[in-house]
Amino acid sequence: MRILLFTGKGGVGKTTVAAATAAQAAEFGMRTIVCSTDPAHSLADAFDVPLGDRPTPIAQGLFGQQLNARVRFEEAWDDVRTYLVDVLDWAGADAVEAEELAVIPGLDEVFALGDIKEFATNGEYDLVVVDCAPTAETIRLLSLPDVLGWYMDRMFDTQRRLTRLARPILQRVSGVPIAGDGVFGAIRRFYERLDGVRELLTDGDITSARLVVNPERLVVAEARRTFTYLSLFGYHVDAVIANRILPAELDHPWMTQWRATQSAHLDVIAETFAP
Ligand SMILES: Nc1ncnc2c1ncn2[C@@H]1O[C@H](COP(=O)(O)OP(=O)(O)O)[C@@H](O)[C@H]1O
Ligand SMILES: [Mg+2]
Repeated sequence: MRILLFTGKGGVGKTTVAAATAAQAAEFGMRTIVCSTDPAHSLADAFDVPLGDRPTPIAQGLFGQQLNARVRFEEAWDDVRTYLVDVLDWAGADAVEAEELAVIPGLDEVFALGDIKEFATNGEYDLVVVDCAPTAETIRLLSLPDVLGWYMDRMFDTQRRLTRLARPILQRVSGVPIAGDGVFGAIRRFYERLDGVRELLTDGDITSARLVVNPERLVVAEARRTFTYLSLFGYHVDAVIANRILPAELDHPWMTQWRATQSAHLDVIAETFAP
């Protein structure tokens, strides 16, 4: 079982390279799923097939999925959402605002991590290819298990115990809606879905990240930072893929100059990342 994460700056070709890798792996006979954590889904466009919120067959041995965070949120967290809407309503937000505010930012990432763990552990796939969002969101995605774990360990248990005891009094005195056991249950189940995901993603025998770059100064600079962040979080980078290299057959003077620039940046990429 292997998990490959593809990340890089916006527009460098993450989706293209992830899709190509998945297609090639499936051709080699690996049971492969490619899923996207980027809310700007373009995986379906890359394959030119519609992709659902659950694994959708693309070719022999190849499945794809584009997560729909809103649908998942409603399925998994309806109790939580209802509770948040109550609180926001109590705090004075009007009904429409409360509905909108109750969708927590970063939720796509939470659901995506849960799915990656599920695909990696259910025995149905040899390879999970993840088409990640641009760098910043990917860093957020990969730091999430730590952040959530911290939150759960320190806040959740205390809060729950406190709420149990204080619920009747608090409610009477302040009128603030207090979360019921349904809410805690939903969050707990959700958290359990993420349990172990960090171990899975930082195990270098299972998971590696691949940085997609273009031979351009800004892209290379960002890739360096990403490489540093990933390493700090304990994620392994096993390849850097340079995409969008101008073919040598184009011999127009303008192209020649551009190719020379690209070639200089390719040297920098090699110096920075190889081996
Ligand atoms: N090597 C390439 N040659 C030509 N076009 C490419 C190449 N790689 C990517 N593209 C195109 O560039 C655009 C952005 O690629 P995409 O894979 O969606 O990037 P990202 O997922 O990093 O945002 C798409 O239109 C894609 O078809
Ligand atoms: Mg993309």
